[in-house]
Amino acid sequence: MSSDIPQSLLPQSDAGEMVVISPGHFLALPRPDILTGPPAGAPDTSTVAAHDFDVDNSTGFMPPQPPLARLPPLWEAWELALEDGLAAKLQLADKPDQSDTDRNRARHWQARVRELPVLPVTQLKESEVLLRRGHLVLTWMLHLYIRTLPLDLPELRIPPPLSIPLLQISSHLQLPPVLTYSDTVLYNWALIKHVPLTIASPAPALDNLRCNTLFTGTRDEAEFYLSSARIELRGVQALSLMRAMMDEAFVGDAIAIQRITSYLHALAGVIGELTKLMLDVREGCDPNVFFNDIRPWFRGADSDSPRRPWIFEGLESDPSLKEPTELSGPNAGQSAVIHALDIFLGADRYSHASHVTGHGRSSSASASSSPSSTSSPSSSSTPSPLADKPKPSVSFLARMQVYMPRHHRAFLRHLSADPRPIRNLVTESSDTSLKEAYNAAISALKVFRDAHVRIVAIYIVGPGKKGARPQEEQKGTGGTSAITFVKSVRDQIQGALLPDVEA
Ligand code: HEM
Repeated sequence: MSSDIPQSLLPQSDAGEMVVISPGHFLALPRPDILTGPPAGAPDTSTVAAHDFDVDNSTGFMPPQPPLARLPPLWEAWELALEDGLAAKLQLADKPDQSDTDRNRARHWQARVRELPVLPVTQLKESEVLLRRGHLVLTWMLHLYIRTLPLDLPELRIPPPLSIPLLQISSHLQLPPVLTYSDTVLYNWALIKHVPLTIASPAPALDNLRCNTLFTGTRDEAEFYLSSARIELRGVQALSLMRAMMDEAFVGDAIAIQRITSYLHALAGVIGELTKLMLDVREGCDPNVFFNDIRPWFRGADSDSPRRPWIFEGLESDPSLKEPTELSGPNAGQSAVIHALDIFLGADRYSHASHVTGHGRSSSASASSSPSSTSSPSSSSTPSPLADKPKPSVSFLARMQVYMPRHHRAFLRHLSADPRPIRNLVTESSDTSLKEAYNAAISALKVFRDAHVRIVAIYIVGPGKKGARPQEEQKGTGGTSAITFVKSVRDQIQGALLPDVEA
């Protein structure tokens, strides 16, 4: 992916290895934003090809090459600040039994972040890969900063060297300025052994992945992210089956129906493998370590009780910036592969009916709205307006799409707009085998959600009962009980089964 980075920004050794494309070549043109189209005067080189949705044939929503692991020298100050903060093993502010040395180490690192220069992001905008890495570095730094601030502060102030570039990058990427699933999973991996990708094995092996960045440096944390990464890679076969079924649905004759029937059974098998990969997280990630040492780092602005507003200092210095409204932390509910399965099978309207918000409150966002779209620009002393405005009800699934890379969000929207949805084809057909195959796929999704409920019980409810950390941690995104929410999704999905047909 480094070939996406302007050469002038690369250290000489990397630039030397690159294939040089002349600036006028169409491959050198920036890829237009699928949501807003090409900039005025630029040709539209986009197509509906998977490439434009950043979906790779072999790695799906993960990039086909290991993600950029370090920004070019211009932004080295960010990389070093994050690296040093992680190496210092800073403790969560609410970790019991902290020593004065622990607290001093945190204050020292926070002061260093406040003293960083406000680095420009203009050149980052030349490359999607650079922007992604910029978002990753600054959001990891953000959570490290916020979650080590003293507990008695009534509001959590994010200093300009962190807040301004983060807001600018996030605005460009149309992402919330918080840690997302893509920062912890999709763009946070490297190969253990360098194995060249070939036609025979075009994606990294599931056991050849490691993580670049971890809060705790533990195997538990790495395995937590890697279990999702493996699901992403295994899910590629599900995406291929979906594509094949969409092609067959277009033809729609008797042979096509037979093929769709067999593809639906194959899809059920792949979903079964995803379920197994999810349950395998238990082999490498200890529930108590997850609950007490890992999960608290992810907490967004809506998880604190009492709520302590996040204040992005210096926001008013750039009139194009808006007060963020979406500040939930990362979770695998932001994985496009699971959304794609739900949407393709027409199960999303059951699993994530709009009343299943996962919230004590309803949300401001929708999948089509910008994550930072809200009120007028406000001053740095204005708290984030996350709290308590009456807002339209939006399903959790729709809300989590706001946290996905925008091309993946566009892919899901494209999938939702399929003119020949598979569920309609099945319900309109009198072919019992087809209906059975469809129900087999829905049942597999239900089994996936059953397993997910078990995982949430093991990783959140169980350790929460031991009371080592505040009960707060039992809550999910938005503050309601996590287990109640995932159970309700599991129960709702049952509604997508077609009646009077064997599964
Ligand atoms: C230790 C592992 C995991 C834990 C503790 C866990 C926990 C949770 C929690 C608490 C929620 C509720 C969202 C919130 O309120 O924040 C959630 C939602 C969700 N998670 Fe997980 N999760 C785990 C692994 C996974 C994996 C591997 C996937 C799939 C890649 C996944 C997919 C989802 C989905 C799709 C949702 C949205 C609700 C739904 O559609 O069922 N989770 N998860």
